[in-house]
Amino acid sequence: MTIESTAQAAYLVAALLFILALAGLSKHESAKLGNTYGIAGMAVALVATVALAIDRGIEAIGLILLGVAMVVGAGIGLWRARRVEMTGMPELIALLHSFVGLAAVLVGWNGYLLVEGGADPAEAALLEAQGTLGIHHAEVFIGVFIGAVTFTGSIVAYLKLSAKISSAPLMLPGKNALNIGALVAFFALTVWFVIDPQLWLLAVVTALALLLGWHLVASIGGGDMPVVVSMLNSYSGWAAAASGFLLENDLLIITGALVGSSGAYLSYIMCRAMNRSFISVIAGGFGIEAPSGDDTDYGEHREVNAEQVAELLTSARSVIITPGYGMAVAQAQYGVAELTRKLREAGVEVRFGIHPVAGRLPGHMNVLLAEAKVPYDIVLEMDEINEDFPDTDVVLVIGANDTVNPAAEDDPTSPIAGMPVLRVWEADNVIIFKRSMASGYAGVQNPLFFRENSAMLFGDAKDRVEDILRVL
Ligand code: TAP
Repeated sequence: MTIESTAQAAYLVAALLFILALAGLSKHESAKLGNTYGIAGMAVALVATVALAIDRGIEAIGLILLGVAMVVGAGIGLWRARRVEMTGMPELIALLHSFVGLAAVLVGWNGYLLVEGGADPAEAALLEAQGTLGIHHAEVFIGVFIGAVTFTGSIVAYLKLSAKISSAPLMLPGKNALNIGALVAFFALTVWFVIDPQLWLLAVVTALALLLGWHLVASIGGGDMPVVVSMLNSYSGWAAAASGFLLENDLLIITGALVGSSGAYLSYIMCRAMNRSFISVIAGGFGIEAPSGDDTDYGEHREVNAEQVAELLTSARSVIITPGYGMAVAQAQYGVAELTRKLREAGVEVRFGIHPVAGRLPGHMNVLLAEAKVPYDIVLEMDEINEDFPDTDVVLVIGANDTVNPAAEDDPTSPIAGMPVLRVWEADNVIIFKRSMASGYAGVQNPLFFRENSAMLFGDAKDRVEDILRVL
């Protein structure tokens, strides 16, 4: 067997491993295994690519550059992944997507310089003979466009998420017309380029796409950025697939398509869970900030202390914990896991209700609870547990707010109207752990806090959980 066919077989194996990785990542029991499949797939792909490059007669300097790039890349990857906080994950992902976008732009430009630019006349003649030269022009142009949009879009997302620039949405006059105009110009320029591949056209589309990427994400409010990150994930996949066509690399096409479609599907799930229109998200147009608070008088809220909560818990038969972003901020998951263990030992039924967009990224709460070794079988999705609240004695809302807001169901004028929520108010007692009466991520007040069966336990979630543990 030649190196060429062995490498192609290895690519197929790597593609299968990537599919297994995605399948594994879809459930928490198998997520670690899924990750391992992904690492194995990438290792196989890298070895096959290097072997192929050597077989095709790469020059020594090229090989050295390849080695240096791999070492530097792996070094940066390890360093960032070890240091990143769970809550900082979206911004790291945004930054990584910008690299994929940049790579696609460079691959596109390189493709142009080799074929259309005349640096590799043999390749150009071959494509001409095959009758695929026009397709090459289109691949270059489309690849550069998607890559450049992803590049600047991801950089803006990173800057907003890490609070390096203001997260307020940029409201240019006629912003939708600008976006649509840029797309129309792109289609027209693509046709022109396929007919007459001029360098200046490529330069124009690169600049246009860089501006469009910037504008698309800048028009979206910081709060909606997690959905945008997942969309950029999808774009980066399509950018990689476009590079795969140019480089005639099947594995890159498959991987790009996997990333592209899974990212798009994830954005769709997130939009549905937040009751947002998917189309307006991909059009970069849903950056309307929610109003911060309203004038409605909800009445008085009630406060409790850790002793009272501990007492309530020990006399309860069934408890449901609904964690949210605040649990992640406070890093309260270890205390919560300990509390769960103690209560279960005392014969109390304890379960978790996880809202699909609790926290700031999909699966955020599941990861934290798994990290703290909470058994998987008591961690339930919203749909699995929402019917059980009326039979529940105590609900502990730990740092969650929007995901347990009854206004989503009761108030059609609420900015979160229609978003499915955990119906915690149907339980006998609801204890809300948070530091103040401040609103959550959507910026809307929560009438739950003022219900008769609700009580506030103010303070940092981790400290309060530890107080309860001490009493227990
Ligand atoms: P949020 O509505 O964001 O509320 C979190 C609450 O935690 C805040 O009200 C805050 O109140 C409290 N908190 C913050 N730090 C705390 C600490 N150290 N100790 C105790 N409490 C603390 O959370 P949620 O219910 O998880 O909802 C998630 C929101 O994010 C939804 O609106 C969702 O649409 C949005 N979102 C989620 C995603 C994904 S994929 N998960 C993506 C995009 C957007 P205090 O300041 O008073 O403490």
